[in-house]
Amino acid sequence: MAEEIKPIGAAVIGCGGMGRHHGWHYKKNPNFEFIGGFDIRQCQQDALEKDLEAKAFESREALLSDPRVELVLVATPNDVHREIVVDALNHGKNVICEKPVTIASTEDLEAMIAAANANGKFFTVHQNRRWDGDYLTAKNVFDKSLLGRTFHIESRVHGSRGVPGDWRAQKPYGGGMLLDWGIHLLDQMLDMMGSRKLKSLFSQLTYVSTSPDEVDDGFRVLCNFEGDITWLVEVTTNNFIPLPRWYILGENGTALDDRWNRRGDTSKLVMVEDWENRDAVPVVLGVGLSKTMAPRTDDSIKEFPLPVVEGKWDDYYDNIYAVLRNGAAPIVTHDQQRRLIRLVEAIFASGASGEAVAFEQ
Ligand SMILES: NC(=O)c1ccc[n+]([C@@H]2O[C@H](COP(=O)([O-])OP(=O)(O)OC[C@H]3O[C@@H](n4cnc5c(N)ncnc54)[C@H](O)[C@@H]3O)[C@@H](O)[C@H]2O)c1
Repeated sequence: MAEEIKPIGAAVIGCGGMGRHHGWHYKKNPNFEFIGGFDIRQCQQDALEKDLEAKAFESREALLSDPRVELVLVATPNDVHREIVVDALNHGKNVICEKPVTIASTEDLEAMIAAANANGKFFTVHQNRRWDGDYLTAKNVFDKSLLGRTFHIESRVHGSRGVPGDWRAQKPYGGGMLLDWGIHLLDQMLDMMGSRKLKSLFSQLTYVSTSPDEVDDGFRVLCNFEGDITWLVEVTTNNFIPLPRWYILGENGTALDDRWNRRGDTSKLVMVEDWENRDAVPVVLGVGLSKTMAPRTDDSIKEFPLPVVEGKWDDYYDNIYAVLRNGAAPIVTHDQQRRLIRLVEAIFASGASGEAVAFEQ
């Protein structure tokens, strides 16, 4: 017999783009009942009522005092996450906070975790991009060693419009691309690497369309994991020719995934058929001859379609339901968030000093 569903009463604080996205999700998912939301701006309150036909609470206190609300989703700009998360936990609510959970502050995160523990409530973060299809596809290549031993992974997103002109362009709100997109890519990297230690890193923050006393408009970080695996993670916003989303190098092959760019798909795996045959006929490259850089001939490599894994965004909320109703273990844990925020702090520190930093020894 199918298990009876006991919908979780959910409400949203901060009803902009992402808050309304969650509200829409609660409305269509039978595991949840969307109770309503609150936003400090009247236009967002109106949009909540009009677009989602949901109750707009007159205040945060009114929302947090409603006994039907079991779960609060916080989707405000990043600077007020701590204050609202702690308030909701102290009102006896379970809480999902949008990423980044804090403006790169371990102290803020520990205050939120302490409030969850003190109130015996569930607190997690919406690290939804662990369920993206491109990430799951790259993870599958790595986990199954489809290229032989993987030794280098490049994960990047390239935009062409600078930093959006809203709060994301302002430091006090926790703007900037490291905290915005970077946090997703770094969370994916730590998830894929699992318990392997991240030994050291070197980062560079960019200010092509912003100034260094404002927010970064991108960054790149080179990470050095135990097991001789390196990662280059890059978020930039001034690219008019975007590079592929994923580029993965293994001992016997290379994988490339550029479905992200929506400009034609050249995603593939290229495998070496006869690795021992290293000798090549020299070719003219530039104004000289080279054997070392001569491309492989067609008879010595084989091309395969990239084995695509579909994204499964609903799995995030399935886990939330299982945690709250059946006592399952959360997928996005406090310790993972501690590691992630510490990593962001280290990337800011390396960017500021211009030096590599040790991370996990
Ligand atoms: N996980 C994802 O894929 C994803 C995607 C986009 C945004 N986000 C995150 O979601 C959060 C919100 O981003 P957004 O794009 O929806 O921004 P947004 O500007 O569209 O919405 C934020 C809303 O919060 C409201 N707000 C500000 N302070 C408030 C307060 N004290 N109480 C109640 N409401 C308040 C604002 O009026 C605004 O309507 C950010 O943390 C962002 O990083 C996550």
